[in-house]
Amino acid sequence: MITVVGSVNMDIVCQTDVFPQQGETVLGQRFETIPGGKGANQAVAAARLGSAVKMVGAVGEDSFGPTLLATLQQENIDTSAVATVTTNTGIANIILHEQDNRIIVVPGANFDVDATMIDQHEELIQRSSLVVMQLEIPVDTVEHTLQICEKHGVPVLLNPAPARNFKTEWMDRVAYITPNETECALIFKEEVEVSLSKYPNKLIVTLGDEGAMYHNGQHIIKVAGFNTVAVDTTGAGDTFNGAFAHKIAQGSTIEEAVQFANIAGSLSVEKFGAQGGMPTIEAVEARLRGER
Ligand code: RIB
Repeated sequence: MITVVGSVNMDIVCQTDVFPQQGETVLGQRFETIPGGKGANQAVAAARLGSAVKMVGAVGEDSFGPTLLATLQQENIDTSAVATVTTNTGIANIILHEQDNRIIVVPGANFDVDATMIDQHEELIQRSSLVVMQLEIPVDTVEHTLQICEKHGVPVLLNPAPARNFKTEWMDRVAYITPNETECALIFKEEVEVSLSKYPNKLIVTLGDEGAMYHNGQHIIKVAGFNTVAVDTTGAGDTFNGAFAHKIAQGSTIEEAVQFANIAGSLSVEKFGAQGGMPTIEAVEARLRGER
């Protein structure tokens, strides 16, 4: 069982052909409110591939909260450890422009996920084969969860996004860390290759449609990505993480997990919305066989 300790957001998405300058108003093409949040996205990605997933987090008492809970439940994710609190549900303001995105997250209820809440679910964490976290919940909560995982010998996959809140002393406590290139440079302040060689079989750097890289203890391995027609890249990194977690929890090697996660990530960008294009196991296997 995979436990995701992380954020649940409603994504408020505007698609525009023209990105507004400061002080300018432009007319957009499309508006949608769709489920998101790095935690929820990674939980959905793993669950859709067939993993048993439990989510620890929080939503608000507003109209978004129940909608997001229902979406997670439809994906067979156990939401019994997702609290409903008086703070508003977290939102992400997403501007889609030329197959790229700019995102402002207002954490809301996600910042009510505190150490007490984690302690309430210690037994659940103890029973997990893998705990997955990101950095859209308070840093202290991430740190506390890392301590609990360490106490029970539960491996942690940390996706350090947004990267600003990452603490390098956590490197000893995580089994896997999955920044993209920008996040990696921000965290370690050195060439990506140097960081990779310092953290073999632990640091996996994602490269978008170029795939991902890690160091296997002898040399850097680059696992190529898959060409695809991108409709919306939001959530591609989350799909990679959820798929990687799914394979690692099954006992796959890092190389197998990265290959699989690359395929899942490439499929995810073919549809609109962070969770819209996340593939099933059948879709990943079909792409692996070269069928689509
Ligand atoms: O990684 C994409 C996600 O980041 C979006 O779904 C949004 O909610 C933000 O958390």
